[in-house]
Amino acid sequence: PVSVYENDRIASKKVAYRIADIIKSKDRRGENTVLGLATGATPIGVYAELIRLHKEEGLSFKNVITFNLDEYYPMQSKAQQSYVRFMDENLFNHIDIRRDNIHIPDGTLKKEVIADYCLAYERQISAVGGLDLQILGIGRTGHIGFNEPGSAPNSGTRLVTLDDLTRRDASRDFGGKENVPTKAITMGIGTIFKAKEIILMAWSKKKAPIIRKAVEGEITGNVPATYLQLSDNVEFILDSDAASELT
Ligand code: F6R
Repeated sequence: PVSVYENDRIASKKVAYRIADIIKSKDRRGENTVLGLATGATPIGVYAELIRLHKEEGLSFKNVITFNLDEYYPMQSKAQQSYVRFMDENLFNHIDIRRDNIHIPDGTLKKEVIADYCLAYERQISAVGGLDLQILGIGRTGHIGFNEPGSAPNSGTRLVTLDDLTRRDASRDFGGKENVPTKAITMGIGTIFKAKEIILMAWSKKKAPIIRKAVEGEITGNVPATYLQLSDNVEFILDSDAASELT
């Protein structure tokens, strides 16, 4: 299903409330909540609302386990552009999550060990019962996570090469495209699909053409987000600008 909201502030709150509901209902059952998280501009409002719910309404993340979708490769954790730093600054430093419950693909590994590391990442997700909810943004290439055009629907966590357009879109953060890493470690389409619930968010006119393809276009590996049409557990949450090219 597709839900369209007046603006991204209202839409982000809806997503935060959904996350809070899952955490609270799993807490009541004495179970952990396993969240798949994204970085980038899109989820910042969701994280801001979660922080508010924690500080003002007592929402606790003590029983929450998180797995981030991706990280640039190579990338030092302390670097300005690292997703470790992004998550700390935009969410983790402001809530009561246990540090050992946080998982983000490691951009500092030697190439030789990445394949094993990626398999272990998948096993860690399974070992805690799988993802209860995965939140996603979407790139202008149609990527989810960093699953660029050509990604297989059953792909797992792996090292990938970033699309040129994705590197161009990231160039501002890195002070030029030439400084954007050419690779990333990302959960696969298959990994994302195993989540019990998936929410893809998109805001602004800039995302309208790719949202049209993702929601209404032919299902194709050239636009990886179109694979989401095959799942019954996906919700597209859009602001009116991102939805403006839907028929
Ligand atoms: C980030 C990620 C990417 C972004 C996408 C949109 O962890 O997996 O797929 O969600 O590139 O980025 P923004 O939100 O900055 O437009």
